[in-house]
Amino acid sequence: VNRKPIVIANWKLNGGLDLICMSLASFIGKQFDGTIAICPPYIYMRDMMAFLKFSELLIGSQNVSRFESGAYTGETSAQMLKEAGCSLCLIGHSERRAMFNESNEGCCIKVATALNHNLLPVLCIGESQAEKDAGKTSAVLSSQLTQGLANIALKGRDLCIAYEPVWAIGTGLSASPERAQHVHEIIRNELTSLFGIADAERIRIVYGGSVNKGNTAQLLQQKDIDGLLVGGASLDTEHFLAICQQAC
Ligand code: G3H
Repeated sequence: VNRKPIVIANWKLNGGLDLICMSLASFIGKQFDGTIAICPPYIYMRDMMAFLKFSELLIGSQNVSRFESGAYTGETSAQMLKEAGCSLCLIGHSERRAMFNESNEGCCIKVATALNHNLLPVLCIGESQAEKDAGKTSAVLSSQLTQGLANIALKGRDLCIAYEPVWAIGTGLSASPERAQHVHEIIRNELTSLFGIADAERIRIVYGGSVNKGNTAQLLQQKDIDGLLVGGASLDTEHFLAICQQAC
């Protein structure tokens, strides 16, 4: 199966016009055999779009509203993101689950909404340290997938899963390539039960959690690791470019 790699930068609540200029300038004229996307804070998306005709970068969002329109203060809809030129959206990042009470059921509505508007949903899943210690990793991931993707019909559309063990996010303690591969295989098996083998083989499963230019190559050598979701290291333009060049 030929799954082209995808590298996604999640700037979280960081960045500014300086970082945008530096990042985009360093990507001008670079070519990749895969997809590179940056998810900046919403307010910067339009500034970034202006640069994109000079590079192959895609813009993603860090979240999407479950609602289409109406009296939902502070929300941004999938249609608005699409109109702004966005290509993908993160859904259910662990920080949103932990700090903004996002549930699997809410994530499922967001996945459906993103698909309906031709945005690539990147559903983020992962176990906490306590869940890992209790031997519950498979069970946690299984419920995040079955509930987060309940009644979703792909109908040929793309979906991406980001496996981000919560204990590896921002800690400098990446999962080992072997452990990450083991978990990605569990995820692909779960996707096979949900969607059948053809879709499960097509869906890209990316790893996130303390990715850096030193662990990129080994992670991507694993058969079920199809890309990376990069937080901290994506805020350093040269570092992020080095990750992308190794990945695709
Ligand atoms: O979305 C990105 C992840 O939360 C990973 O963050 O690379 O800083 O560990 P990190």
